[in-house]
Amino acid sequence: MTISSKDLLGIKGMAADEIKLFLDTAATFKDVSERDIKKVPTLRGKTVINLFYEASTRTRTSFELAGKRLSADVINISTSTSSVVKGETLLDTARNIEAMKCNIIIIRHPCSGAPEFLSTRLKSAVINAGDGFHEHPTQALLDMFTMREKLGRLDGLTVAIVGDIAHSRVARSNIYGLRTMGAKVRVCGPATMMPSGIENMGVEVYYNMDSAVEGADVIMMLRLQVERQTAGLFPGVREYARFYGLNRARVNCAAKNVLVMHPGPMNRGVEISSDVADSASVILDQVTNGVAVRMAVMFLLSGGTKGEA
Ligand code: CP
Repeated sequence: MTISSKDLLGIKGMAADEIKLFLDTAATFKDVSERDIKKVPTLRGKTVINLFYEASTRTRTSFELAGKRLSADVINISTSTSSVVKGETLLDTARNIEAMKCNIIIIRHPCSGAPEFLSTRLKSAVINAGDGFHEHPTQALLDMFTMREKLGRLDGLTVAIVGDIAHSRVARSNIYGLRTMGAKVRVCGPATMMPSGIENMGVEVYYNMDSAVEGADVIMMLRLQVERQTAGLFPGVREYARFYGLNRARVNCAAKNVLVMHPGPMNRGVEISSDVADSASVILDQVTNGVAVRMAVMFLLSGGTKGEA
């Protein structure tokens, strides 16, 4: 089986067997990062461009490592030191990069739809590394990979996603993917952070965190986007932590072997206590798995098949 699209723009509409192909292929790449020599020749001669219009630690670094471990040539473009600061448009920037004969452009952009805009205008494969409030598909793939690796399945799991649902591209991509793979998804947060019509995404909506995490197999905490505090979405950080922060007592209400996840970066003591983050979570496993998942994404978009991985 191969991937039907030249790009990875989102999880919405992706078939279960395609999600499974990404996860199975990532599993075959995972051990490359454990070796002394962390390199395979799979994408030798290919050129990958990381084009990030927003800050990133995990996504940008893991895409770079993934490309290098596949033997591709990887270039990072920081928009703050590029001609973007001179007013060059997104399309002109991308077309100039493509003129240097790259194969894959990975883009993070504050505007929802920016990766799709480029995908229809470029021959290169375009990978969405997070666009506005829209989607973060490789984050959802690495999250599902981690759940499947730790719990053995996705079908039938109960996953509670807690926090600023309205502004979270991580939540949106995970909801699409987890529902397709047969998981039950609960979303929980203050009413001001819950998008209208969220029920239409096939999720159960909770405003009380104790109820949301009760019996859950997975608790996925979202970053409180403190930069939005001025918008009056909640009275204060301390109040938010009290009502929607994950602490040991709340973890104890979930399923016995609950997985605690967070995409990072986290606000310690706000949406998650340090105690839970450091001793009862799989947050760093998610980061490790991000490299394997991004290797699989670049490999499959380059026309690879699972048997060749
Ligand atoms: N999870 C995530 O997207 O982290 P970064 O913003 O550091 O890439």
